[in-house]
Amino acid sequence: MELDFHMAIGEAEANYANNSRLQRKALIKTKPVLEKVMRQVYMALLPPTMVVADLGCSVGINTLLFVSKVTSTVADAQCHNELGCHIMELQFFLNDLPRNDFNQVFQSLQQFTKSIAAGHPKGVALPPFYISGLPGSYYNRLFPCQSVHLFHSSYCLHWQSQELVPGGKMLLTFLGRKKDDVLDGDLSHLFGLLAQALQSLFTEGIVEKGKLESFNLPIYGPSIDEVKTVITRNKLFCIDHIELFESNWDPYDDLEHDGMHISPHRGMNVAKCIRAVSEPLLASHFGEYILDKLFQRFAQIVERHLAKENVKYSVIVLSLNRRD
Ligand SMILES: C[S@@+](CC[C@H](N)C(=O)[O-])C[C@H]1O[C@@H](n2cnc3c(N)ncnc32)[C@H](O)[C@@H]1O
Repeated sequence: MELDFHMAIGEAEANYANNSRLQRKALIKTKPVLEKVMRQVYMALLPPTMVVADLGCSVGINTLLFVSKVTSTVADAQCHNELGCHIMELQFFLNDLPRNDFNQVFQSLQQFTKSIAAGHPKGVALPPFYISGLPGSYYNRLFPCQSVHLFHSSYCLHWQSQELVPGGKMLLTFLGRKKDDVLDGDLSHLFGLLAQALQSLFTEGIVEKGKLESFNLPIYGPSIDEVKTVITRNKLFCIDHIELFESNWDPYDDLEHDGMHISPHRGMNVAKCIRAVSEPLLASHFGEYILDKLFQRFAQIVERHLAKENVKYSVIVLSLNRRD
């Protein structure tokens, strides 16, 4: 599973780097929470070097957007004298599975460093920052004990505790569920439509019965209450902040109210977004040859669905403190 689970790479039309607007919107939306959490950590600990890990960083503009948000939060704090004469450096660890295209991330660093400096107001010094890649699964230990001040992860999910310094924090953004009923979630709804597309390919003889029946996509969107229960039971963390916001299925639909966004590309936009995160898994199980047909069919089904109902993802933002 770890080998197959990575985001779509390769052709620009379908790869994750070019089809991650949904995830980018979440990073922008959670900026105020990130700033608050950052401030709480550095004001409480005043570390000479703040160690920040982004788990499941992937590739593309989202990866470095997170780095730039953290860096400018510290630059602003220094500019407003919040840190007094304390000079703080930043050490970033960008983590993902080994098959993530880390080279692409590294190759963009020089340009990124120039653009972040150029985009900053004149006279405001950026803190020195250092970026390292860290391949490996976040379900295994990645860091020495008590060495990380802030774990961040967006659109992935996991918990780490021993590696956090006392007073350290974790900020997680992940897909969840608004309603209590497990089957009444927009996530199960969306993947139900993908199942319909697979089923129709089976009816046409393109997908084998055995392959269809043995496919399992382990995806679950918890409710806020379920998240709270797990954290309380786990006893390693306490909740600092939890909220749920909604995001339209179509990543190019920025309307915040319930009005209907009429675009002929809605179905295709949703299909590209889902393809970018699931293509390697689907290709390894069913074979690459089904992908184009599958996602064309899925786009049509989603389009019909969105014409009847404006559905949204529920996204949970959770900030956790390590219990001492
Ligand atoms: C949907 S992407 C999110 C990427 C990025 N955080 C963003 O906001 O655009 C999820 C990422 O998590 C990574 N991932 C999944 N399971 C992982 C694991 N066990 N360890 C490390 N990374 C993992 C995937 O390879 C993928 O790059």
